[in-house]
Amino acid sequence: MPIPSPTIDLTDRVALVTGAASGIGRAAARRYAEAGARVMCADIDADGAKQTSESILADGGNAASLGLDVTDESAVEKSLIQTIDALGGFDILFNNAGVGGDDYQQTIEVNQNGVYYGLKHGATLLAERGGGAIVNTASIAGLQGLVSPLSDHSEGGPASMTEGGGIAYIASKHAVVGMTAQFAISYAKLGVRVNAVAPGYIETPMTSLLREDLQVQHEYEQLHPMGRLGQADEIATAAVFLSSDAASFITGHTLPVDGGYSCR
Ligand SMILES: NC(=O)c1ccc[n+]([C@@H]2O[C@H](COP(=O)([O-])OP(=O)(O)OC[C@H]3O[C@@H](n4cnc5c(N)ncnc54)[C@H](O)[C@@H]3O)[C@@H](O)[C@H]2O)c1
Repeated sequence: MPIPSPTIDLTDRVALVTGAASGIGRAAARRYAEAGARVMCADIDADGAKQTSESILADGGNAASLGLDVTDESAVEKSLIQTIDALGGFDILFNNAGVGGDDYQQTIEVNQNGVYYGLKHGATLLAERGGGAIVNTASIAGLQGLVSPLSDHSEGGPASMTEGGGIAYIASKHAVVGMTAQFAISYAKLGVRVNAVAPGYIETPMTSLLREDLQVQHEYEQLHPMGRLGQADEIATAAVFLSSDAASFITGHTLPVDGGYSCR
């Protein structure tokens, strides 16, 4: 088999990005477009997703947008067809939408079930179409328990990481890592590669609370051996790599993009 060139070129590919209205998803949608892909920007925040697609169009790329709640399985399935109808193909799914709130059920529904629906329908459709790539957004919270300076400072104390949204976030992101491995094995011979990125703490709206107090922010920075938080573009670049032919022999892998957080 000829080994693909390591150049990252997504010309003629179509990527569907969930959570594309903000943070990592918006950065990734723009990066996929920069690499040549046509990009469907999907988010429960339909206006924000449209802003992302409009920014890509303004820069000369090709994109469209749709409102999508990833907890609605039939809507996730339909979004794949909407992507093909609007952009003429479907080759890549960046299964990225996620929440970091207080609610146990909601966190599981978005971060675990939403990713599962994308994997289930996305992998099936990609296999039918001859292959493709899926990248899930896991987290360092999918690889280990979290040390959480914010919950140590706040009234809830350590319990806030073993209850509600805190423990649901850890559980759901571990589920993403597990589902990544299983779908990779099950779809490997059908031409569908399935990987994940595991970000450390990244400067996006999701982490605005921990950046309100400089002392707390500093404590989070110091959890990363590189001594800083990450940027959305740094996760986006890793997702684009894993989606491309440059990663042709990589599947089932969860790639930490975390300034060394998970190697301590
Ligand atoms: N920011 C971090 O430090 C960090 C670290 C590790 C992992 N992550 C993960 O990265 C992903 C992106 O997070 P972010 O930091 O860009 O946060 P963000 O809040 O900036 O963006 C999340 C996006 O997901 C969308 N979303 C939420 N619920 C949805 C639903 N039901 N259906 C469709 N879209 C929905 C939101 O509207 C938002 O646009 C999430 O899966 C998050 O868990 C973030």
